[in-house]
Amino acid sequence: MKFSALSYVAATAPLLTSLVQLQLLIPNNIIVEAKPSNEYQVVFQPLQQQQHLAGSSNNVNYYYQGKLQEMLLDQINTSNEIGDFYAQTNYKRLIKTSAHRKPRWMTEDDIHTLRRMGVKFMDVTEAYISKHLASSNQGSDISSKDIFSIEDIDIDDNQSLMIHEHSSSSAKEIATKDLPKLPTQLIYQDTVKPIVSNLTTSYMEDTLKRFTEFHNRYYDSSYGLQSSEWLLKRIQSLIDEYTSSSTSSPTKVTVKHFKHKFKQPSIIARFEGQPHTSSSSNNNKKVADETVIISAHQDSVNMWIPWFGRAPGADDDGSGTVTILEAFRTLLVQLQQGNFRPQRTVEFHWYAGEEGGLLGSQDVAHYYRRHDRTVVGQLHFDMTGYNKRPKNKDEIIGVVVDNTDIELSNLLRLLAKTYSRLETRDLECGYACSDHASWNQVGYRSAMAYECDDLEANSNIHSPKDVVETVDFNHMVEFTKLAIGYAYEVGNAI
Ligand code: BES
Ligand code: ZN
Repeated sequence: MKFSALSYVAATAPLLTSLVQLQLLIPNNIIVEAKPSNEYQVVFQPLQQQQHLAGSSNNVNYYYQGKLQEMLLDQINTSNEIGDFYAQTNYKRLIKTSAHRKPRWMTEDDIHTLRRMGVKFMDVTEAYISKHLASSNQGSDISSKDIFSIEDIDIDDNQSLMIHEHSSSSAKEIATKDLPKLPTQLIYQDTVKPIVSNLTTSYMEDTLKRFTEFHNRYYDSSYGLQSSEWLLKRIQSLIDEYTSSSTSSPTKVTVKHFKHKFKQPSIIARFEGQPHTSSSSNNNKKVADETVIISAHQDSVNMWIPWFGRAPGADDDGSGTVTILEAFRTLLVQLQQGNFRPQRTVEFHWYAGEEGGLLGSQDVAHYYRRHDRTVVGQLHFDMTGYNKRPKNKDEIIGVVVDNTDIELSNLLRLLAKTYSRLETRDLECGYACSDHASWNQVGYRSAMAYECDDLEANSNIHSPKDVVETVDFNHMVEFTKLAIGYAYEVGNAI
């Protein structure tokens, strides 16, 4: 189906009122094509068909119009040229808008234009840089080469960028052979059920209320930096509170920032794995090095004015952030009482820059891959607060089935059935919609839990309307139960 940019915007941009304004936002030579996979592609008509773009006395309109024109020129003139590799990567990002299209070099402003137009994208710059560096090392870094072959970025004869989707020696094939086993039965029910039945929502409510008071949590702004510093301090104070010197637990708990090229750092908190028996120390060491990941993203975005616009991001993804923070806090309480002592290392990740194209999680996943870290599986929570059927008794969990691992997703279903009220529904994003894709891309297992059975249920996201009043904490706590169950069952099973 094809329709004009004007009708597309008219149908999908309720924030803007005047159609005249709307027309100025998108040049007439751009057509937006709707794909069956809920994905839109921008199609550029030949230059000669371009119509003169009328100016506007409104600065904002001039602003967007200017950016769109820049983007247009980019597309026509430079986007498929490799040019000077380092110059390109300094000010442009390599953006993939669909699995079947070549990635393109785009400026930050172009990327925001894509977002405003509802175009789905993933930033593959870091993967490209690693690939480029690996190949320029002439095979000395064989493992890096293997890692990125899953979505191999290459240069074809016409000097354009290509992604070969599944090359024969994909990272996934190489990695899954050696992956630690996942449990197929839940053996900690006697411990976990009483814990999850006693959860309350007050700490989550207090945290989310304060977290959404940051004007926004945009990943390359000082707001994004401040919100990350605040979250780190809050996590550190929980650790201080529950692991004082009087606590006898041998499990070490730490939290650190993981820095990126942009302002907002990701956060990684960890319960260090502890061997339970004194025998076979080598094997115990191996088990302690196996990492179990529970994650959410901490950044938010206002799709119209990313840097300055209000973006409380209560559901997207403040909800996931506090869902897993409550699991972390609960595990600390249990650790203090001697009821949680994982053999494997259990980590909590709050990624920066998800809204910028999975930036934080890609950096972290690539880092773990490069350092040969054994990751058992990443369980990701992006949006857990919007309950589509608040009046119904049945509450739903959407299990994302693309860019995720089948076995880990099965475990997620089993956790939901055993430890929560949530009924499972399968969902397909149709694109790399959140940070689970970053881990999947480098060959680790990932699963993604989502708030309901409709990917478009919460129309407030990426806008000032994504406020704390719209989320249901009793729904969110059902997801906390899954994170706790996962930490026990996978943090210990061997
Ligand atoms: N939370 C969303 C993803 C999402 C939306 C998942 C609706 C399930 C249902 C996430 O923060 C997001 O906005 N992702 C971007 C893609 C990303 C690569 C910039 C998106 O969906 O456009
Ligand atoms: Zn989002």
